[in-house]
Amino acid sequence: MKVAIFISSRGSNMQALVKASQEEGFPAEIVTILSNNPDAGGLEFAKAHNIPTKVINHRDYDNRDDFDAAINEYLEGMQIDLICLAGFMRLLTADFVNRWRDSIINIHPSLLPAFKGLHVHERAIESGARFTGCTVHVVRPEMDDGPIIAQAAVPILQKDTPESLAARILEQEHKIYPLALKLMAQRKVKIHGSIARIEGCVESEASLLNPEA
Ligand code: GAR
Repeated sequence: MKVAIFISSRGSNMQALVKASQEEGFPAEIVTILSNNPDAGGLEFAKAHNIPTKVINHRDYDNRDDFDAAINEYLEGMQIDLICLAGFMRLLTADFVNRWRDSIINIHPSLLPAFKGLHVHERAIESGARFTGCTVHVVRPEMDDGPIIAQAAVPILQKDTPESLAARILEQEHKIYPLALKLMAQRKVKIHGSIARIEGCVESEASLLNPEA
């Protein structure tokens, strides 16, 4: 399965996906890293690992439709099968998401459907919740919405700052995103309406996955 990863900045999740994909027998190949931001730090890592990079700067386009059309043309030229959003901070149009239905996955630093959007760590602490975490989900046109593939819960500690909480969640992101990509590439993720069911996952993976509905 040929995969494109979209980033906007640091790209630590992208690095976790690339490292996993280089393991023997991994069922997906990362063929390009695309960024809307020419200064995204993650582009350097990609170049150092000889992965083709592509910058499509949203500032060069008058509207979202044209920006997404440029991305689409590039992906079709690269014969991409699956898109992984990894800290890609642009909303994609419904047309684009529908064109790639069930072929875009995203990581978000909360236990969705709680805390969609921005400033999630601050909001999780301020809510008084005891747990938050991270989610990999199939992308739908609504922001941070779609069938959940994998989640990891992280406790919120009394002493937590948004930064300390974000750092602990990020460690978990780097575990669940490679797992979710592997399951997608193995075609074990079956979408039933708003629910993603995982076929034949092994016991050690099951604790990170949403329960069977
Ligand atoms: C990650 O924490 C990711 O979950 C979050 O941005 C960060 C990117 O870090 N994504 C979102 O908030 C999307 N709604 P990274 O560039 O080091 O992977």
